[in-house]
Amino acid sequence: MAATLFSPYTIKGVTFKNRIVMAPMCMYSSHKEDGHVQNWHRTHYTTRAVGQVGLIIVEATAVTPQGRISPQDLGIWSDEHVEGFKELVGLMKEHGAKTGIQLAHAGRKAVLEGEIVAPSAIAFNEKSKTPKEMTKTEINETVEAFKKGAERAAKAGFDVIELHGAHGYLLNEFLSPLSNKRSDEYGGSAENRYRILSEVIDAVKTVWNGPLFVRVSAHDYHEDGLTAEDYITFAKWMKEQGVDLIDVSSGAVVPARINVYPGYQVKYSETIKNGADIATGAVGLITTPIQAEEILQNDRADLVFLARELLRDPYWPRTAAKELGVTIEPPKQYERGWI
Ligand SMILES: Cc1cc2nc3c(=O)[nH]c(=O)nc-3n(C[C@H](O)[C@H](O)[C@H](O)COP(=O)(O)O)c2cc1C
Repeated sequence: MAATLFSPYTIKGVTFKNRIVMAPMCMYSSHKEDGHVQNWHRTHYTTRAVGQVGLIIVEATAVTPQGRISPQDLGIWSDEHVEGFKELVGLMKEHGAKTGIQLAHAGRKAVLEGEIVAPSAIAFNEKSKTPKEMTKTEINETVEAFKKGAERAAKAGFDVIELHGAHGYLLNEFLSPLSNKRSDEYGGSAENRYRILSEVIDAVKTVWNGPLFVRVSAHDYHEDGLTAEDYITFAKWMKEQGVDLIDVSSGAVVPARINVYPGYQVKYSETIKNGADIATGAVGLITTPIQAEEILQNDRADLVFLARELLRDPYWPRTAAKELGVTIEPPKQYERGWI
Protein backbone atom coordinates (compact mmCIF):
# COMPACT_ATOMS: atom_id res chain seq x y z
CA MET A 1 0.00 0.00 0.00
CA ALA A 2 1.42 3.38 -1.00
CA ALA A 3 0.79 5.90 1.75
CA THR A 4 -1.09 8.94 0.50
CA LEU A 5 0.08 10.74 3.64
CA PHE A 6 3.56 10.81 2.15
CA SER A 7 2.60 11.73 -1.38
CA PRO A 8 3.42 15.30 -2.41
CA TYR A 9 0.70 17.88 -2.93
CA THR A 10 0.93 20.93 -5.16
CA ILE A 11 -1.15 24.10 -5.04
CA LYS A 12 -0.38 27.05 -7.33
CA GLY A 13 3.10 25.73 -8.04
CA VAL A 14 3.98 25.19 -4.37
CA THR A 15 4.68 21.55 -3.55
CA PHE A 16 4.42 20.18 -0.02
CA LYS A 17 6.54 17.05 0.37
CA ASN A 18 3.73 15.27 2.23
CA ARG A 19 0.14 15.87 3.38
CA ILE A 20 1.07 16.60 6.99
CA VAL A 21 0.29 20.15 8.07
CA MET A 22 1.11 21.68 11.41
CA ALA A 23 -2.08 23.52 12.39
CA PRO A 24 -1.70 27.08 13.64
CA MET A 25 -1.20 27.18 17.41
CA CYS A 26 -0.82 30.36 19.44
CA MET A 27 2.29 30.24 21.56
CA TYR A 28 1.64 33.50 23.43
CA SER A 29 5.39 33.95 23.48
CA SER A 30 5.95 37.40 22.08
CA HIS A 31 7.19 38.34 25.54
CA LYS A 32 7.86 41.97 24.84
CA GLU A 33 4.21 42.42 23.88
CA ASP A 34 5.19 44.00 20.57
CA GLY A 35 4.19 41.12 18.27
CA HIS A 36 7.78 40.26 17.36
CA VAL A 37 9.23 36.77 16.78
CA GLN A 38 11.24 35.46 19.75
CA ASN A 39 13.64 32.56 20.32
CA TRP A 40 10.75 30.33 21.36
CA HIS A 41 9.21 30.68 17.90
CA ARG A 42 12.55 29.99 16.23
CA THR A 43 13.05 26.79 18.22
CA HIS A 44 9.45 25.57 18.20
CA TYR A 45 8.73 25.92 14.48
CA THR A 46 12.17 24.85 13.27
CA THR A 47 11.92 21.65 15.31
CA ARG A 48 8.78 20.61 13.39
CA ALA A 49 10.60 21.36 10.12
CA VAL A 50 13.43 19.06 11.24
CA GLY A 51 10.69 16.54 12.02
CA GLN A 52 9.70 16.62 8.30
CA VAL A 53 6.28 18.28 8.52
CA GLY A 54 5.26 19.20 4.97
CA LEU A 55 3.61 22.56 5.71
CA ILE A 56 3.99 24.51 8.92
CA ILE A 57 1.38 27.20 9.53
CA VAL A 58 2.58 29.81 11.99
CA GLU A 59 0.05 30.66 14.68
CA ALA A 60 -2.68 33.32 14.54
CA THR A 61 -0.79 36.52 13.83
CA ALA A 62 -2.59 39.77 14.46
CA VAL A 63 -3.09 42.27 11.65
CA THR A 64 -3.69 45.09 14.16
CA PRO A 65 -2.64 45.47 17.82
CA GLN A 66 -6.33 45.57 18.79
CA GLY A 67 -6.84 42.30 16.92
CA ARG A 68 -4.58 40.29 19.23
CA ILE A 69 -6.09 37.61 21.46
CA SER A 70 -3.51 38.47 24.14
CA PRO A 71 -0.68 40.99 24.47
CA GLN A 72 1.81 38.15 23.79
CA ASP A 73 0.43 37.25 20.34
CA LEU A 74 2.58 37.50 17.25
CA GLY A 75 1.76 40.51 15.10
CA ILE A 76 2.26 41.68 11.54
CA TRP A 77 0.81 45.18 11.78
CA SER A 78 4.04 47.02 10.98
CA ASP A 79 6.91 46.78 8.51
CA GLU A 80 9.26 46.18 11.46
CA HIS A 81 7.71 42.75 11.92
CA VAL A 82 8.90 41.49 8.53
CA GLU A 83 12.53 40.91 9.52
CA GLY A 84 11.70 38.43 12.32
CA PHE A 85 9.34 36.44 10.11
CA LYS A 86 11.89 36.39 7.30
CA GLU A 87 14.40 34.79 9.63
CA LEU A 88 11.81 32.31 10.91
CA VAL A 89 10.78 31.33 7.38
CA GLY A 90 14.44 30.83 6.44
CA LEU A 91 15.01 28.54 9.42
CA MET A 92 12.02 26.35 8.57
CA LYS A 93 12.86 26.21 4.86
CA GLU A 94 16.40 25.00 5.55
CA HIS A 95 14.78 21.67 6.45
CA GLY A 96 12.50 21.42 3.43
CA ALA A 97 9.25 22.52 5.05
CA LYS A 98 6.85 24.82 3.29
CA THR A 99 5.69 27.70 5.42
CA GLY A 100 2.39 29.38 6.07
CA ILE A 101 1.08 32.11 8.33
CA GLN A 102 -2.40 32.54 9.75
CA LEU A 103 -3.53 36.16 9.53
CA ALA A 104 -5.98 36.97 12.29
CA HIS A 105 -8.11 39.50 14.10
CA ALA A 106 -9.58 38.44 17.45
CA GLY A 107 -12.65 40.69 17.38
CA ARG A 108 -14.68 40.30 20.57
CA LYS A 109 -12.39 37.55 21.82
CA ALA A 110 -9.47 39.90 22.38
CA VAL A 111 -8.39 39.90 26.02
CA LEU A 112 -6.68 43.26 26.06
CA GLU A 113 -6.72 46.60 27.85
CA GLY A 114 -8.87 49.24 26.17
CA GLU A 115 -11.57 49.02 23.55
CA ILE A 116 -12.27 45.85 21.59
CA VAL A 117 -14.37 45.67 18.43
CA ALA A 118 -16.81 43.25 16.80
CA PRO A 119 -19.67 43.25 14.27
CA SER A 120 -22.16 43.82 17.10
CA ALA A 121 -21.89 44.98 20.72
CA ILE A 122 -22.47 41.54 22.22
CA ALA A 123 -19.99 39.96 24.65
CA PHE A 124 -18.86 36.34 24.05
CA ASN A 125 -19.92 35.33 27.58
CA GLU A 126 -20.62 36.89 30.97
CA LYS A 127 -16.91 37.02 31.81
CA SER A 128 -15.78 38.79 28.65
CA LYS A 129 -15.73 42.43 27.70
CA THR A 130 -18.51 43.94 25.61
CA PRO A 131 -17.07 44.98 22.26
CA LYS A 132 -17.86 48.15 20.38
CA GLU A 133 -19.85 47.71 17.16
CA MET A 134 -17.49 48.41 14.27
CA THR A 135 -18.18 51.41 12.08
CA LYS A 136 -17.87 51.07 8.31
CA THR A 137 -14.63 53.03 8.49
CA GLU A 138 -13.27 50.52 10.99
CA ILE A 139 -14.36 47.66 8.73
CA ASN A 140 -12.53 49.27 5.79
CA GLU A 141 -9.43 49.79 7.94
CA THR A 142 -9.53 46.15 9.03
CA VAL A 143 -9.76 44.94 5.43
CA GLU A 144 -6.75 47.15 4.65
CA ALA A 145 -4.89 45.72 7.68
CA PHE A 146 -5.38 42.16 6.34
CA LYS A 147 -4.07 43.32 2.97
CA LYS A 148 -1.01 44.95 4.57
CA GLY A 149 -0.44 41.80 6.63
CA ALA A 150 -0.52 39.70 3.45
CA GLU A 151 1.91 42.06 1.75
CA ARG A 152 4.32 41.71 4.68
CA ALA A 153 3.86 37.91 4.77
CA ALA A 154 4.86 37.85 1.09
CA LYS A 155 7.95 39.94 1.85
CA ALA A 156 8.90 37.54 4.64
CA GLY A 157 8.85 34.67 2.11
CA PHE A 158 5.89 32.60 3.33
CA ASP A 159 4.55 30.03 0.82
CA VAL A 160 0.94 30.02 2.06
CA ILE A 161 -1.41 32.53 3.65
CA GLU A 162 -4.29 31.30 5.77
CA LEU A 163 -7.06 33.70 6.83
CA HIS A 164 -8.47 32.96 10.27
CA GLY A 165 -12.20 32.79 9.70
CA ALA A 166 -12.87 30.34 12.54
CA HIS A 167 -13.21 29.90 16.32
CA GLY A 168 -15.33 32.96 16.96
CA TYR A 169 -12.73 35.54 16.01
CA LEU A 170 -13.62 38.62 13.99
CA LEU A 171 -14.31 37.15 10.52
CA ASN A 172 -16.26 34.25 12.06
CA GLU A 173 -18.24 36.74 14.17
CA PHE A 174 -19.39 38.44 10.97
CA LEU A 175 -20.30 35.12 9.29
CA SER A 176 -22.47 33.79 12.11
CA PRO A 177 -25.95 35.22 12.76
CA LEU A 178 -25.37 34.46 16.46
CA SER A 179 -22.73 37.20 16.79
CA ASN A 180 -23.69 39.45 13.88
CA LYS A 181 -26.89 41.44 14.47
CA ARG A 182 -26.04 44.31 12.13
CA SER A 183 -28.72 45.95 10.02
CA ASP A 184 -26.38 47.42 7.39
CA GLU A 185 -24.85 45.66 4.37
CA TYR A 186 -22.50 43.66 6.67
CA GLY A 187 -25.34 41.87 8.50
CA GLY A 188 -28.59 40.04 7.86
CA SER A 189 -28.45 37.77 4.80
CA ALA A 190 -25.68 35.21 4.26
CA GLU A 191 -24.33 37.41 1.47
CA ASN A 192 -24.13 40.39 3.81
CA ARG A 193 -22.52 38.40 6.63
CA TYR A 194 -19.95 37.11 4.13
CA ARG A 195 -19.19 40.63 2.84
CA ILE A 196 -16.20 41.43 5.07
CA LEU A 197 -14.55 38.07 4.33
CA SER A 198 -15.17 38.63 0.65
CA GLU A 199 -13.53 42.06 0.86
CA VAL A 200 -10.59 40.67 2.81
CA ILE A 201 -10.05 37.91 0.22
CA ASP A 202 -10.23 40.40 -2.68
CA ALA A 203 -7.85 42.81 -0.91
CA VAL A 204 -5.36 40.07 -0.05
CA LYS A 205 -5.42 38.81 -3.62
CA THR A 206 -4.26 42.19 -4.92
CA VAL A 207 -0.91 41.60 -3.13
CA TRP A 208 -0.74 37.78 -2.97
CA ASN A 209 -0.95 35.22 -5.76
CA GLY A 210 0.29 32.21 -3.81
CA PRO A 211 -1.86 29.52 -2.17
CA LEU A 212 -4.64 31.03 -0.06
CA PHE A 213 -6.36 29.01 2.67
CA VAL A 214 -9.27 30.04 4.85
CA ARG A 215 -9.94 28.38 8.21
CA VAL A 216 -13.63 28.13 9.05
CA SER A 217 -15.74 26.93 11.94
CA ALA A 218 -18.13 24.73 9.99
CA HIS A 219 -20.59 24.23 12.85
CA ASP A 220 -21.79 26.67 15.53
CA TYR A 221 -23.30 23.91 17.74
CA HIS A 222 -26.35 26.09 18.34
CA GLU A 223 -29.90 25.69 17.01
CA ASP A 224 -29.89 29.17 15.47
CA GLY A 225 -26.31 28.94 14.24
CA LEU A 226 -24.55 27.79 11.09
CA THR A 227 -23.88 24.23 9.99
CA ALA A 228 -21.58 22.63 7.42
CA GLU A 229 -24.39 22.98 4.85
CA ASP A 230 -24.24 26.78 5.24
CA TYR A 231 -20.50 26.60 4.78
CA ILE A 232 -20.91 24.84 1.43
CA THR A 233 -22.39 28.12 0.17
CA PHE A 234 -19.58 30.20 1.68
CA ALA A 235 -16.98 27.78 0.30
CA LYS A 236 -18.45 28.06 -3.20
CA TRP A 237 -18.13 31.83 -2.96
CA MET A 238 -14.58 31.53 -1.67
CA LYS A 239 -13.71 29.20 -4.53
CA GLU A 240 -15.07 31.74 -7.02
CA GLN A 241 -12.85 34.36 -5.41
CA GLY A 242 -9.77 32.17 -5.81
CA VAL A 243 -9.39 30.58 -2.37
CA ASP A 244 -7.49 27.33 -2.80
CA LEU A 245 -8.31 25.34 0.31
CA ILE A 246 -10.74 25.43 3.23
CA ASP A 247 -9.24 24.35 6.56
CA VAL A 248 -12.27 22.92 8.30
CA SER A 249 -12.54 23.39 12.04
CA SER A 250 -15.69 24.06 14.10
CA GLY A 251 -17.20 25.83 17.07
CA ALA A 252 -16.22 28.59 19.50
CA VAL A 253 -18.35 31.40 18.06
CA VAL A 254 -20.65 31.08 21.08
CA PRO A 255 -20.16 29.02 24.25
CA ALA A 256 -21.39 25.46 23.55
CA ARG A 257 -20.87 21.93 24.71
CA ILE A 258 -19.16 19.99 21.92
CA ASN A 259 -19.06 16.22 21.73
CA VAL A 260 -15.42 15.59 20.93
CA TYR A 261 -14.05 12.27 19.62
CA PRO A 262 -11.33 11.17 17.18
CA GLY A 263 -11.78 12.94 13.86
CA TYR A 264 -14.95 14.73 15.05
CA GLN A 265 -14.63 17.49 12.45
CA VAL A 266 -13.64 15.30 9.49
CA LYS A 267 -17.27 14.93 8.42
CA TYR A 268 -17.51 18.71 7.95
CA SER A 269 -14.41 18.65 5.78
CA GLU A 270 -16.00 15.91 3.68
CA THR A 271 -19.29 17.82 3.39
CA ILE A 272 -17.57 20.99 2.20
CA LYS A 273 -15.15 19.18 -0.10
CA ASN A 274 -17.97 17.36 -1.87
CA GLY A 275 -20.52 20.17 -1.67
CA ALA A 276 -18.34 22.97 -2.98
CA ASP A 277 -15.85 20.90 -4.99
CA ILE A 278 -12.91 22.57 -3.28
CA ALA A 279 -9.78 21.21 -1.60
CA THR A 280 -10.03 20.90 2.18
CA GLY A 281 -7.91 20.23 5.21
CA ALA A 282 -9.25 18.11 8.07
CA VAL A 283 -8.34 18.93 11.66
CA GLY A 284 -9.32 17.92 15.16
CA LEU A 285 -8.20 14.91 17.16
CA ILE A 286 -6.30 13.36 14.30
CA THR A 287 -3.52 11.55 16.08
CA THR A 288 -2.68 8.25 14.39
CA PRO A 289 -1.12 7.55 10.99
CA ILE A 290 -3.84 5.06 10.05
CA GLN A 291 -6.51 7.64 10.85
CA ALA A 292 -4.75 10.23 8.70
CA GLU A 293 -4.37 7.73 5.88
CA GLU A 294 -8.05 6.76 6.06
CA ILE A 295 -9.11 10.42 5.74
CA LEU A 296 -6.95 10.97 2.68
CA GLN A 297 -7.61 7.69 0.90
CA ASN A 298 -11.38 8.06 1.34
CA ASP A 299 -11.17 11.59 -0.14
CA ARG A 300 -12.48 13.21 3.00
CA ALA A 301 -9.74 15.85 2.84
CA ASP A 302 -6.66 16.70 0.78
CA LEU A 303 -4.42 17.55 3.72
CA VAL A 304 -4.43 16.55 7.38
CA PHE A 305 -3.77 19.21 9.98
CA LEU A 306 -2.34 18.16 13.33
CA ALA A 307 -2.07 20.42 16.35
CA ARG A 308 -1.61 18.86 19.79
CA GLU A 309 -0.10 15.62 18.49
CA LEU A 310 2.72 17.69 17.01
CA LEU A 311 3.29 19.31 20.41
CA ARG A 312 3.70 15.86 21.91
CA ASP A 313 5.81 14.49 19.06
CA PRO A 314 7.54 17.04 16.83
CA TYR A 315 8.87 14.12 14.77
CA TRP A 316 5.40 12.69 14.16
CA PRO A 317 6.07 12.36 10.39
CA ARG A 318 8.89 9.97 11.23
CA THR A 319 6.63 8.05 13.63
CA ALA A 320 3.92 7.88 10.96
CA ALA A 321 6.28 6.78 8.19
CA LYS A 322 7.58 3.96 10.35
CA GLU A 323 4.08 2.77 11.15
CA LEU A 324 2.95 2.94 7.51
CA GLY A 325 6.11 1.23 6.27
CA VAL A 326 7.33 4.23 4.30
CA THR A 327 10.91 5.42 4.16
CA ILE A 328 11.38 9.17 4.44
CA GLU A 329 14.59 11.14 4.19
CA PRO A 330 15.99 12.08 7.56
CA PRO A 331 17.93 15.28 8.10
CA LYS A 332 21.48 14.24 7.12
CA GLN A 333 22.76 14.80 10.65
CA TYR A 334 20.23 12.28 12.03
CA GLU A 335 20.83 9.45 9.56
CA ARG A 336 22.38 7.18 12.18
CA GLY A 337 19.40 7.44 14.50
CA TRP A 338 16.43 7.78 12.17
CA ILE A 339 15.44 4.15 11.46
C1 LIG B 1 -1.93 25.56 22.10
C2 LIG B 1 -2.95 25.73 21.01
C3 LIG B 1 -3.04 26.92 20.33
C4 LIG B 1 -3.95 27.10 19.26
N1 LIG B 1 -3.94 28.25 18.53
C5 LIG B 1 -4.67 28.31 17.39
C6 LIG B 1 -4.48 29.38 16.47
O1 LIG B 1 -3.61 30.23 16.63
N2 LIG B 1 -5.28 29.41 15.37
C7 LIG B 1 -6.20 28.43 15.11
O2 LIG B 1 -6.90 28.51 14.09
N3 LIG B 1 -6.36 27.39 15.94
C8 LIG B 1 -5.59 27.29 17.04
N4 LIG B 1 -5.68 26.17 17.82
C9 LIG B 1 -6.53 25.04 17.38
C10 LIG B 1 -5.70 24.02 16.60
O3 LIG B 1 -5.16 24.57 15.41
C11 LIG B 1 -6.55 22.79 16.23
O4 LIG B 1 -7.58 23.19 15.37
C12 LIG B 1 -7.16 22.10 17.46
O5 LIG B 1 -6.21 22.00 18.51
C13 LIG B 1 -7.67 20.70 17.13
O6 LIG B 1 -6.63 19.91 16.59
P1 LIG B 1 -5.83 18.80 17.47
O7 LIG B 1 -6.87 17.86 18.02
O8 LIG B 1 -4.90 18.15 16.49
O9 LIG B 1 -5.12 19.52 18.57
C14 LIG B 1 -4.82 26.02 18.92
C15 LIG B 1 -4.75 24.82 19.65
C16 LIG B 1 -3.83 24.66 20.66
C17 LIG B 1 -3.76 23.33 21.37
